[in-house]
Amino acid sequence: MRSEEPRSVRLSEYRPPDYLIDQVDLDVVLDGDKTLVTSVLEIRPNPEGRSNVPLVLDGDEITLAGPPLLDNDELTPEAYVETPQALRIHMPPKRAFSLKITTKLDPAKNTKLMGLYRSGAAYCTQCEAEGFRRITYFIDRPDVLSTYRVRIEAGRKEAPVLLSNGNPVEAGLLPNGRHYAVWDDPWPKPCYLFALVGGDLGVVRDSFVTVSGRHVGLAIYVEHGKEDRASYAMDALKRSMKWDEDVFGREYDLQVFNIVAVSDFNMGAMENKGLNVFNDKYVLASGDTATDGDYAGIEAVIAHEYFHNWTGNRITCRDWFQLCLKEGLTVFRDQEFTADMRSRPVERISDVRGLRAIQFVEDAGPFAHPVRPDTYREINNFYTATVYEKGAEVIRMLQALIGRDAFRLGMEFYFSRHDGRAATIEEFIACFADASATDLSQFLLWYSQAGTPEVAATSSWDEDTGTYTLNLLQTVPKTPGQDIKKPMVIPLAFGLLGMDGEDLPIGGDNAESGLIVLNKAEHSFAFRGLNSRPVLSINRTFSAPVKLTTDLTENDLFFLARYDSDPFNRWQALQTAALRVLIRSVHAVRGGNRPLNDPRLAEAFASAIADPEIDPALLAQLLALPSETDIAREIGNDVDPDAIYAARIGLKRALARFVRGALADLYRGLVNDGPYSPDARAAGRRALRATALDLICAEQDDASAMLAFAHYSAANNMTDRMSGLAVLSGIDRPERDQAFADFYKRHKGDALVLDKWLSLQAVIPEAGTLDRVRRLMKHEAFSMANPNRVRALIGAFAASNPTQFNRADGAGFDFLADIVIDLDPKNPQVAARLLGAFRSWRALEPGRRGRAEFALKRIAATDKLSPDVSDLVIRALA
Ligand code: TRP
Ligand code: ZN
Repeated sequence: MRSEEPRSVRLSEYRPPDYLIDQVDLDVVLDGDKTLVTSVLEIRPNPEGRSNVPLVLDGDEITLAGPPLLDNDELTPEAYVETPQALRIHMPPKRAFSLKITTKLDPAKNTKLMGLYRSGAAYCTQCEAEGFRRITYFIDRPDVLSTYRVRIEAGRKEAPVLLSNGNPVEAGLLPNGRHYAVWDDPWPKPCYLFALVGGDLGVVRDSFVTVSGRHVGLAIYVEHGKEDRASYAMDALKRSMKWDEDVFGREYDLQVFNIVAVSDFNMGAMENKGLNVFNDKYVLASGDTATDGDYAGIEAVIAHEYFHNWTGNRITCRDWFQLCLKEGLTVFRDQEFTADMRSRPVERISDVRGLRAIQFVEDAGPFAHPVRPDTYREINNFYTATVYEKGAEVIRMLQALIGRDAFRLGMEFYFSRHDGRAATIEEFIACFADASATDLSQFLLWYSQAGTPEVAATSSWDEDTGTYTLNLLQTVPKTPGQDIKKPMVIPLAFGLLGMDGEDLPIGGDNAESGLIVLNKAEHSFAFRGLNSRPVLSINRTFSAPVKLTTDLTENDLFFLARYDSDPFNRWQALQTAALRVLIRSVHAVRGGNRPLNDPRLAEAFASAIADPEIDPALLAQLLALPSETDIAREIGNDVDPDAIYAARIGLKRALARFVRGALADLYRGLVNDGPYSPDARAAGRRALRATALDLICAEQDDASAMLAFAHYSAANNMTDRMSGLAVLSGIDRPERDQAFADFYKRHKGDALVLDKWLSLQAVIPEAGTLDRVRRLMKHEAFSMANPNRVRALIGAFAASNPTQFNRADGAGFDFLADIVIDLDPKNPQVAARLLGAFRSWRALEPGRRGRAEFALKRIAATDKLSPDVSDLVIRALA
């Protein structure tokens, strides 16, 4: 490691701030490279902090335009020190005082996209987690809450739109073609929720009347000419506002709610108070430019950011270790919203697919960390699937354990006790302990112990007494820094199916109402008085985020796939059965044999297709085999991605051959010539039709190419066009490049749509793909400066092309290492994200593992790495 190891921050070392800032008055003069930010801070010593200590304000790559003024008097040079990282005032007064600071910025040079930067025709900001210190010197930590008044000034032509947090209070014209606007945010907030936008943008307006009858002006600002693509986002916003009132009793609290879509953004979106800033990918949609998946993503992210207004903004985090306090809870809330808007079981299946594909893999590798980490070198690296998605699972378990009513009461306690404050996980959990009169101390282990718990279920049957005994055993694997684990509280929803496929009434000890709470390493549960051996359906709805093994036979699994009253477990049973075949098949392939098949799986497919009552969206999920990542994760070590690919495509072909007739009927029966509508029902039918197409074309022969090309050509919306192109992309026939060329011609100049074009080419499972990706990097549709382009091409290649990223010759790893080294100085956050592709490098077979290690070591040996990249390579190689 050439570069210095970044210093660690520890949860155990938390101290309250020594000073508080009650009021912030900002005056921002947007003027290119002469942009000036003047801040007047009302500061006072914190009675809970240390007294007589220097005042240290954080900074990052900023400089003062002149000496600070304390209570209107210029500080003498001896009274303070300024560095790009801090402004230290040696002996501030022991009473309240004001401090005036002016910094000079050049937003166009800010390539990190943190702080104040330029995106297209706009100036915009991103302050979470530690970006405010790139705008002005400040006590940049979430437990310092202030009210803000912000004056923005800019050229009227260049920036007719001037926005900040809170309510608009004043605006006016100035000489020299300039103008200004003043915003006032009455709600105290930490500086990471500050935002400002200035630019020439189009706008879509609407309004919402809250439960108590207050009128809220809604606006979504987008690039000129894209206004008609913002209507779905607006609709999703209004539904989110209503849902939060209906389900959580949360009312909006300002006169306006603004959203701005920008095209250069490091993440998905940001919940700044009253002024959400979005990656335009999560705002803009039309039937011709966005897929059903994009619409679903927009709905979820709009809801997520809106819900943060209460879970994150009104109640924020004491420190960044508590990040899951707002993120896990808000993901839980947006998942519940989607479940209510669409199909609950289908939403659950897709959330669990995502959790397993990313979080489970993270939890099993070098980047594993608790939902609430206790140490970090770079907080940006903890916006992870563990904090977000596992964080949401923990809340869902809490609800399962104490019941819906107690859960809602606990949320009421949380909102009323902590409103306007910065809270901790302990304070949050105490609300639910009080609401349910339960001791939740063991439950807190979900926040502190990393790793995915493993639960083994075995059973025995006593024919004479009609007793079914279920034995459960839990283990939590070792993770970095945590060798010894304690047993966790694991809520397992379950049912017992009788021979007719119906649920039996459950009356066993400790197991009423279909929920078993496993809170010891090992426990047995007996069910007496049964007429015949039941079939166990356990972890229904995926009530606990655990890895489950059972002694269910394949026939039991097919029985569950057909009859389980829980649709999630119907899906799970088929996945488990398929995974068992696939894993045997991978071993067969590695032994030089042909991929394996199981006719019973094909029969299960056939009977699912024949089910007249099944929801098309659910059927689409049932017919989708476990992914290559699913198979690799299940195998766990000595992973050979080529063998996995061969086993999977082999099984897919065999299944498709068996149900060919039924698939063809399904495919034909689902055509829809009507106008496009993004609603869940129509989307479900398109998803099923795409799944059928994918299976029919599994042969990847001439006929497949023709059919996929016809599907692509006949499409009257982006969803169908993309499903045709996705299938074609796996078929090495002339139609493939013909379709890619046609797609480019149709959508030239539309960057967001071309991202799909880049991604599909990046995930082709063929040896030529790396060269194709290299060529595309020189294409006019690509830019290394835009995070969406980088993620679409390079991110997709690294994260979603298992055979080519993990090429046996190591060329995929070397390529990614070069990119990370090149991008790191410009945008460390995006560079570090790409490194996530190494999250399971140690699980690879020895040849690939060695080459991955070599690439990681080459990054580690690079000079002047950012804390973001350096932290990840240190952990990857530890
Ligand atoms: N708080 C944001 C969310 O969950 C996440 C986020 C947006 C973010 N932009 C960021 C986090 C930049 C770190 C850096 O919606
Ligand atoms: Zn969030």
